[in-house]
Amino acid sequence: MIDDKMIGSLIESADKARENSYAPYSGYAVGAALLCDDDSVITGCNMENAAFGPGICAERCAVYKAVSEGKRHFKAIAVAGSPVGEPISQYASPCGVCRQVLREFTDPVNFYVIIAGPEGTYKLKTLEELLPESFGPENLES
Ligand code: THU
Repeated sequence: MIDDKMIGSLIESADKARENSYAPYSGYAVGAALLCDDDSVITGCNMENAAFGPGICAERCAVYKAVSEGKRHFKAIAVAGSPVGEPISQYASPCGVCRQVLREFTDPVNFYVIIAGPEGTYKLKTLEELLPESFGPENLES
């Protein structure tokens, strides 16, 4: 399980990461804070592109940063998303692609997704709840 203090701290980091969001096309800023097994926290934000396709979500930005730094084991991620320049006003749940990318490096039953909401509220889910019966690395083990 993950304690309340850690949840609050991850939400704060995710919200702070929103400030770096580059979202001139959607006007929607997302921040993520990924808690690694060694208790370090890696943040990410969404980054859009004039060609649209190359844009990336905040969650994958955080995972790719972490993996590129040699971290492959994660405990939780907090996600905060809302229109640019506004405080968190809605619950932004990770997209399907990000769920699958998180699946690659986590045990879905024990990995927590914290979806930040208005005024310090949040929803707490396991990855298994968000991506049930998923396909993962184990499927390719012979
Ligand atoms: N976005 C994320 O960063 N994470 C999600 O899980 C959903 C969507 C971003 C992508 C795009 O830059 C903007 O939010 C609007 O879709």
